[in-house]
Amino acid sequence: MSETVSYSIEDDIGIVRIDNPPVNALSQSVRSGLMKALEASSSDDSKALIILCEGRTFIAGADITEFGKPPLEPVLGEVLQRLDEHNKLTVAALHGTALGGGLETALCCHYRCADTSARVGLPEVKLGLLPGAGGTQRTPRLAGLETALELITSGQPMAAAKALDAGLVDHLLAAGQDLLQGAKDYTRSLLDGNAPLRRASALPIAFSEQDKATLDAARKRLQQKTRGERAPQRIIDCLEAAATRPFEEGLKLERSLFLECMSDPQSSALRHLFFAEREAAKVNGLAKDTRPLPVEQVGIIGAGTMGGGIAMCFANAGIAVTLIDNSPEGLERGLGLIARNYSTSVSRGRLSEEKSAAAQALIQGSTDYTSLANVDLVIEAVFENLELKQTVFRQLDNICKPGAILATNTSYQDVNAIAAVTNRPQQVLGLHFFSPANVMKLLEIVRADHSSDEIIATAMAVAKRIGKVPVLAGVCYGFIGNRMLRHYQREAQLCLIEGATPAQIDSAMEGWGMAMGPLAVGDLAGLDIGYKARQALSDDEKGDPKSYRVPDLLVEQGRLGQKAGKGYYQYDPETRKRSDDPAVLEVVESAARELGVERRAISAEEIVSRLTCALINEGARILEEGIAQRPGDIDAVYAYGYGFPRHRGGPMHLADTLGVKQVYKTVCHYRDTLSADNWQPSALLEALANSDDSFSGWQAQRQA
Ligand code: CAA
Repeated sequence: MSETVSYSIEDDIGIVRIDNPPVNALSQSVRSGLMKALEASSSDDSKALIILCEGRTFIAGADITEFGKPPLEPVLGEVLQRLDEHNKLTVAALHGTALGGGLETALCCHYRCADTSARVGLPEVKLGLLPGAGGTQRTPRLAGLETALELITSGQPMAAAKALDAGLVDHLLAAGQDLLQGAKDYTRSLLDGNAPLRRASALPIAFSEQDKATLDAARKRLQQKTRGERAPQRIIDCLEAAATRPFEEGLKLERSLFLECMSDPQSSALRHLFFAEREAAKVNGLAKDTRPLPVEQVGIIGAGTMGGGIAMCFANAGIAVTLIDNSPEGLERGLGLIARNYSTSVSRGRLSEEKSAAAQALIQGSTDYTSLANVDLVIEAVFENLELKQTVFRQLDNICKPGAILATNTSYQDVNAIAAVTNRPQQVLGLHFFSPANVMKLLEIVRADHSSDEIIATAMAVAKRIGKVPVLAGVCYGFIGNRMLRHYQREAQLCLIEGATPAQIDSAMEGWGMAMGPLAVGDLAGLDIGYKARQALSDDEKGDPKSYRVPDLLVEQGRLGQKAGKGYYQYDPETRKRSDDPAVLEVVESAARELGVERRAISAEEIVSRLTCALINEGARILEEGIAQRPGDIDAVYAYGYGFPRHRGGPMHLADTLGVKQVYKTVCHYRDTLSADNWQPSALLEALANSDDSFSGWQAQRQA
């Protein structure tokens, strides 16, 4: 039928096989092949038609690489309309992940069977889209409005057994049963029972007052939760139409809102991140035959919040962990914290009792470093102090087996200086987790001067196994994320002392989409952490006092942040809700007087512009220096580690959206009006602006 679709008749049943690796996406050749197969099936003497896929999965969705380009005929809507109208019984046989347009294809079949491992989902919302081929109209007709609402607005897949209960799947194959044979048997039973051609488009749908209230509540809830994302609201419009208008009208609305989503910059940003996340896992220049080393046992040094969180990541992935702490009390505290975290996950329904018990059984505590003699990987997560870390690495070098990889979870220390105290610098790298480590998806993999290709490949593979988004970084102060963050935080401090209030700064950034404003983040982390770090620096290293005088004063008054009930804000002891505190404004005003700053009104636009341009300018420097491999890697760091709004695509994508030339002009304006020291434009930013280029254009040229 086409290079990716074949059609044959076996025992009077037509079989459409799709073979479009890696995920059987609905590329043009699949769509045209399907169309031809339907034509063939309608006029031959087969009795029914089964659609199934080769390889690891049923169709995992539209081909995202075709998005944003002129449409190629036939469009999916046409093919699925033809499938919906087919004059013979149709059955979709699902395995792997039937996602997006893949599930929509299955929903156009009269019946669906699935093997026990299959999962179905409509993840378009994660790409700033909505199911654009009838998914918003057929799903509620088959599974009810509430299930459709959850499936489409969360984007989370549903296991086959649950999909069977929900009515999205009609028959579950026995465990281990062959997919083709199972589908044939099921189709035969339908034919023998004279099963009707059951079209989801023709099913009735009810809409009660209760349903209306559910949709209204979801609209409000999602407005809060997805801050500024437009696709979730459009999805609810489609679901309401599904329940209140004829099928054809609902389909028409879905089509027009899908096209609106497709041309929305939010969707380009989210699609950019989809590919950036996958690209980030690839290491430039790595020899093709580099094989990751086996990692079955991991040691973690330091049973604090970070060490405990890292231990959970590995245990959750079924990898045995030995957690080391110097003191029995510290170890007991750490293991207790881990147990509490697991019990919270169970009580919130995020984890089953069995899985929690199995994971905890994989974590052994010890105060003896020699219990690390046989581990494959050690991650050091002790206090941020170079000498201390070097002492730990000397010990590890003596104790661990020769092939073991030694990693530091440092946020700022020089990984080369740590590697240098060992006799195996080729086995040393940074694995920088983000707090809380068992939740945050980002993992910066820091390549030191002598880290071998093999251990970098191993770190990438391990990251994937434990469900992280890995990004490669070179050695510098703060690597990618924290190095940029210093500039972002500096501007937040300067906006504060120059005239804004903490609430104005945080609301500006949160209103723009950041998960949390910069000062609220400071309160959450504890203001004493930065304070202590500054104490170790010379005045020169500390930089402009305007960028740290306020937090210094707050810490000296005991305002350490949330843990003290007060920091930039005061916190309700029960609810932890923040509120403004006039005492903070007094501190800010007195610091401004002391440093000769005349306070002025600062708009939300200025706050957002200064903080984001500071990120972009430093991001460009990081690219210039080769600390990050690609602009998209920086975007992945910010989206997965720093609460940057995903629908804005990350700082470097934001620069492309705003126009690099415009960003460069803004940076120059701040250099001329605010500070020549803080706002020297990066050479790369300047070069791209002068050549009217973008970061993505620059990256494409380098790859070519
Ligand atoms: N289109 C094009 N390429 C895709 C793709 C898609 N829908 N889904 C995955 N790929 C590519 C990936 O980019 C990756 O390519 P590289 O190897 O070159 O990096 C490769 O397939 C493998 O993908 P993963 O690394 O993600 O593999 P995985 O096994 O970890 O996950 C998956 C597989 C669960 C299917 C995951 O890839 C996924 O979630 N894909 C996206 C699914 C999706 O969003 N579908 C909806 C599309 S929109 C739509 O369908 C609109 C509509 O209504 C018509």
